[in-house]
Amino acid sequence: MGSTNRLKLGLFGANCSSGRAVTMVPERWSGNWSDCVKLAEMADRAGIEFMLPIGRWKGYGGETDYQGATWETVAWACGLLAETKRLTVFGTVHAPLIPPLIAAKQFVTADHIGKGRFGLNLVCGWNEGEFEMFGATLRDHETRYEYAQEWLDIVRLAWSSQEDFDFDGRFFKLTGVRAKPKPFGETRPLLMNAGASTTGQAFAIRNCDALFSTISHRISLEEMAAHIGQVQALARQAGSAIDIYTVGVVTCRPTSGEAQDYYRHAIIDNADWAAVDNILGMRKITPQTHSAQEFRRLRIHQANGMGGLPIVGDPDSVARDIAQLAGLGLKGIAVSFVNYLDELPYFCAEVLPRLARSGLRESDAG
Ligand SMILES: Cc1cc2nc3c(=O)[nH]c(=O)nc-3n(C[C@H](O)[C@H](O)[C@H](O)COP(=O)(O)O)c2cc1C
Repeated sequence: MGSTNRLKLGLFGANCSSGRAVTMVPERWSGNWSDCVKLAEMADRAGIEFMLPIGRWKGYGGETDYQGATWETVAWACGLLAETKRLTVFGTVHAPLIPPLIAAKQFVTADHIGKGRFGLNLVCGWNEGEFEMFGATLRDHETRYEYAQEWLDIVRLAWSSQEDFDFDGRFFKLTGVRAKPKPFGETRPLLMNAGASTTGQAFAIRNCDALFSTISHRISLEEMAAHIGQVQALARQAGSAIDIYTVGVVTCRPTSGEAQDYYRHAIIDNADWAAVDNILGMRKITPQTHSAQEFRRLRIHQANGMGGLPIVGDPDSVARDIAQLAGLGLKGIAVSFVNYLDELPYFCAEVLPRLARSGLRESDAG
């Protein structure tokens, strides 16, 4: 991601209606095309490094049909890359749902539109309802990653300088493959993955430039620091290196009281609880499987932003929290807001200069 900033910043989830906040407040994110373009242009001007979409195919229901309207992410990236100059835009792609050679060419197309600014977030899928919609089978967890490995090997071969190749794998048998053009500028798109399991993380270490890890409500910052250290040690043992990012959900207001009040208003008092319960149900989290106290905690955690770290406060405390995360060894953070377009200007005006003063970012407003 083009900048020299020690801490990279991105926007997560703007390709979906409601973004990451499972809320009914009327100002929730529309996700419509013109808002996405305005947001990308604003982020580009402010020197935000990247936009990361969610690969979502089916809404979660509830009052708002949470994430019911979503843009296909590679086409979304193509459009936003055409409108921007320095932003990296990721596509989030389910390997099992699209043949690797079609995907490889789509990525190359996006990469040329963006002059090398396309990135790929490869996901294996977890949501059975989405797979049924495609008539596809959700493989068992380990096999999902074996399949993804072959899929990505083919994509990388298609990107490579090899003219013609055959591929003889367990899942794919391809003959006389030819794929031109190649990615922009004789490099390849950035690769990321967000595996949380040992297998998922090993996949990221083997294949990717970046791993996204969520800081769950269950782990402390010390545990997150230990996790980062472990992943980086594993990468070193494998003779590689990997950058680790996390996701945050920002509510920043002039005073801490205002931020807390808005957080409560949007995320708790006006949560779309029916959608939250649908999401939890898909993960087999119900009042029957969890204690009342734990269930309540998980519901709030989910409503907050599908599980991102809440960063709520005035600009000083938001900048301090972000700096603390950077201090753990994170390379970057992908954040979301209830309404990205309404809230990003204040974040850029107040938090970015504070991060610049703490040496984490250049003071660059484009
Ligand atoms: C930042 C981030 C983005 C993710 N994006 C998606 C996505 O768009 N679609 C999806 O199906 N899964 C997504 N996931 C889920 C992961 O790909 C992965 O399945 C999950 O973290 C569980 O890890 P595991 O596969 O190693 O068990 C995301 C996870 C994170 C942390």
